[in-house]
Amino acid sequence: VNDAVVARRRDELSEALAARDTTTAVVMTMGALHAGHRALIRSARELAGADGAVITTIFVNPLQFGVGEDFDRYPRTLAADLDICAEEGVDVVFAPDVTQMYPDESTHVTIDAGPLGRELEGKARPTHFAGVLTVVTKLLNLTVPTYAVFGEKDYQQLTLIRRMVTDLEMPYEIVGVPTVRDADGLAVSSRNRYLTAAQRPTALLLSKALRAGAAAAHNRDAVLAAGQAFLDHPGLDVDYLELRGPGLEPNVDHGPARLLVAARVGATRLIDNVAVELPARPMDTR
Ligand code: PAF
Repeated sequence: VNDAVVARRRDELSEALAARDTTTAVVMTMGALHAGHRALIRSARELAGADGAVITTIFVNPLQFGVGEDFDRYPRTLAADLDICAEEGVDVVFAPDVTQMYPDESTHVTIDAGPLGRELEGKARPTHFAGVLTVVTKLLNLTVPTYAVFGEKDYQQLTLIRRMVTDLEMPYEIVGVPTVRDADGLAVSSRNRYLTAAQRPTALLLSKALRAGAAAAHNRDAVLAAGQAFLDHPGLDVDYLELRGPGLEPNVDHGPARLLVAARVGATRLIDNVAVELPARPMDTR
């Protein structure tokens, strides 16, 4: 196990990157690293190659948390995170503090996430995606990677990041990685550590609903009804269950689709999603 170079400041990051003039792949995280992040780091290594460099960023970004959300209690586990980075062969870790990322008192120019930024997660968290896209842009520009790897667990985030680099001509290749699940089906997330043992069976209803929905893919209504059957449950406060296109287009009836759910279990808000394959569009026989 080789320790990664740990850069806490931007000048240390530039120095570490200048020493590695090669293919690079970045994994952006807010720390509290788990099996899902390990999968992202392994994909980053495959993309960068044995001679390339894998960069992991660890930063709990205040800009993407709304008032009353869990910014203050979000888990911060830097020592354990650095051990995981070393085990996974990360070359450079960038772990800045807030003053490194936002040196001015406030950020004046931010990225507008557009219409999709106001739907699904954006309805419950209206400033969230502007905060995400702004920090992702800053981290892309600071690390200048060949590839940037993001999990499908945050499917709307991944979709918006893809959209942003396309719409704004940003020269980075965005790569999505399938969600890692615990043996019982729960999607791995840093926020799972907020769940009590008693809440876990309730939290599991999200992945059960998605699996049931994906298995009932003969038509759109059947998918939603099969999913909803798991969600009418005391202790589960459902925000949405929606079936959309692969780019999160509304009203999909045919072909590849995505089923997404968000719900609160106690004070913990959880999200999950799966791919669904609806029947192909009937052939036009005219
Ligand atoms: O997915 C996350 O952990 C965060 O939203 C990200 C992409 C690191 C931006 O802060």
